[in-house]
Amino acid sequence: MTTLSYDDVLLQPQYSDIRSRSEIDMTTDLGRGLMLSTPIFSSPMDTVTEGRMAVALGESGACGIIHRYNTAARQQRFVERALTLSRSAGINIGAAIGITGDYLERAEGLVSSGVAFLCVDVAHGHHILMKEALGTLREKYPDLHLMAGNVATLEAVNDLSDWGADSVRCNIGGGSICSTRIQTGHGVPGLHTVLECAKTDRNVKIIADGGIRNSGDIVKALAAGADAVMCGSLFAGCTEAPGEVFRSSSGETWKTYRGMASKEAQTDWKGKYSSLEGIASKVPYRGSVSVVLNDLRRGIRSGFSYTGARNIEELHAKAQFIEQTTSGLTEGHPHIMGRTW
Ligand code: XMP
Repeated sequence: MTTLSYDDVLLQPQYSDIRSRSEIDMTTDLGRGLMLSTPIFSSPMDTVTEGRMAVALGESGACGIIHRYNTAARQQRFVERALTLSRSAGINIGAAIGITGDYLERAEGLVSSGVAFLCVDVAHGHHILMKEALGTLREKYPDLHLMAGNVATLEAVNDLSDWGADSVRCNIGGGSICSTRIQTGHGVPGLHTVLECAKTDRNVKIIADGGIRNSGDIVKALAAGADAVMCGSLFAGCTEAPGEVFRSSSGETWKTYRGMASKEAQTDWKGKYSSLEGIASKVPYRGSVSVVLNDLRRGIRSGFSYTGARNIEELHAKAQFIEQTTSGLTEGHPHIMGRTW
């Protein structure tokens, strides 16, 4: 079977009657009161989302999910401090929990602190332990938005929905710091995952997670049927991400970005490591996340306009994908440099 990833396709430009990009509304309603004016989550990773990132994103209409790679008490403090720090009342801040160990105690603390939703965050979400955890959480919190994942198939999205999830993170091993596919031989290319998962007939929202490198990828993911995207590497280089800025002697600046299944992250978090399914790397320092987010938003609006879509629903209905060859891909990148004739 041919499976497509983001670079294998383009969206065909279409007639548009949108006179101004200000007519475009990217609001996404994810259910149970979780509504974002910018359909972007930051990943629950220890080099991406703690309090500062969650506040900055929440205040600008996107949403940060505070990672779970610490004690329950520390994670709860991050949430409480973030909600106190925030200048706007009622911003959306999510927090991640696992499916074993102290996950229920964590959930209780986080919910009592005022998180907008819980993200049940495991590498292989189509799993009996996920079924049990979602069953317990849904019973305990009948009205709370539950995000769950990760999965890579339509069957998994349907199961997680039936077990109690309101939104599902889709993509296994497609993130920039992932080595799951190399290590285990398993995964499904990112765009194909979204196209398949979005065929669900359940009342569940699709989060395209991992492998999103720019606003064009975000537009493609939404056009493929996602209701929102989740990004790690795009935000890891921002001031608000945890960790310091490094500077080389030549003036290059960067921050550390690492997969949560990398040797480095596992060792810091639990003092040992098991299967290594991620790597530790670095990303260029990019300054404030508000600048990054504004650039993304401008690109997304422009993308909607090329399809003639005023909102996500119209984008889902109107988008026309075409496949491209590697020559098309090369042509689509700025390519004047290196031409010698
Ligand atoms: P991007 O491409 O945005 O991807 O940097 C972020 C997403 O990658 C996932 N993630 C991992 N996947 N091994 C994996 O296979 C890992 O160590 C790992 N850490 C994070 C996660 O879904 C995140 O949102």
